[in-house]
Amino acid sequence: DTYVLIMAGGVGSRFWPKSRNHFPKQFIDILGTGKSLLQLTGERFLKICPSENIFVLTNEAYAGLVGEQLPNILKDNILLEPSRNNTAPCIAYATYKILKQNKEANIVVAPSDHLILKEDVFVDKINKALNFTEKNDALLTLGITPNRPDTGYGYINYKNDAADEIFKVNSFKEKPELKVAEEYLANGNYLWNAGIFIWKAANLKRAFEKYSPEINELFEKGNEFYNTPGEKKFIAVNYPTSPDISIDYAILEKADNIYTIPAEIGWSDLGTWASLHAVADKDDQSNVVNCNQVNLQDTSNCIINLPTGKAAVIRGLENFIIVDDEQVLLIYPKSEEQEIKQVAKKMVASF
Ligand code: GDD
Ligand code: MG
Repeated sequence: DTYVLIMAGGVGSRFWPKSRNHFPKQFIDILGTGKSLLQLTGERFLKICPSENIFVLTNEAYAGLVGEQLPNILKDNILLEPSRNNTAPCIAYATYKILKQNKEANIVVAPSDHLILKEDVFVDKINKALNFTEKNDALLTLGITPNRPDTGYGYINYKNDAADEIFKVNSFKEKPELKVAEEYLANGNYLWNAGIFIWKAANLKRAFEKYSPEINELFEKGNEFYNTPGEKKFIAVNYPTSPDISIDYAILEKADNIYTIPAEIGWSDLGTWASLHAVADKDDQSNVVNCNQVNLQDTSNCIINLPTGKAAVIRGLENFIIVDDEQVLLIYPKSEEQEIKQVAKKMVASF
């Protein structure tokens, strides 16, 4: 009994100013394919289960955007959060609600804003993972071979000794400091957490009971209301009182029944402008250009993203991010792009 939860409530602030509070990254056609990242994610999961079993978890503010972009998803399957409390509570809410109607639910939890180039491999790995969690008391996560000491990811240390494709995890560390990430990379027995999880709903509930009793208690209280007219009110009153914590800190770092399936799926989390630059089509000077008309001289390795109808002349820029969004113009060195999140925070009040 396969279900899919697509998490689409984040803000994507490192992609500012294209990604904004009122229109975050997952709703944007960042790759220029004519479809948003959320739409690509929705289509990908139709290869795993029918649309009636796909749920989208998002903030109330994005109800309209999700409905417009994913017209095939049942309205009742778009779960709206009245506050931003990170991923643990939204996953608990959906899991307990589904559990009420199906004790055997086997669930895939996935972000809405990632790029996956090898869809066939992805579908194959997810099916293998579902088969494994169906039979074992396992919380399974997709692992990606790391290629740099990125501090924005969770790191999985695993026992590389099974003949199988699925490995027991020794320990999980969410967003380590740079020095630690460098040690992990040198050590070799580490994978990045792709943030795509597979588990039986009942097993995840047991993990909440054990490692996050506050969240368990809160969403257990909702049991009498889920799938009834009282659900909306229960969530409006109680959801905002949940701890504000990601599933990685709440469960993955603590549980002892974590497993991983390494998956070379052409993955990028498209977390930043540079990560987009790495995968997007480039001109012969390695610029990623997204605008109608542009005249570039001595300009290389840049990202140039302008609104429709706007032209640009640029001379002598290397390794810059240039994004014009009508209200905001950003010109920022690519090497310092991690600062954009902070810059955005100071600006979001007005933009
Ligand atoms: N519904 C809902 N509600 N969705 C949310 C919320 C929320 O409050 N907060 C974040 N999301 C969504 C985001 O839109 C994204 O699709 C997904 O949940 C993950 O959240 P991020 O905020 O992007 O997490 P992260 O990138 O910092 O870290 C996670 O992903 C990494 C891989 O990209 C962790 O799982 C890391 O361990 C992992 O390596
Ligand atoms: Mg992310």
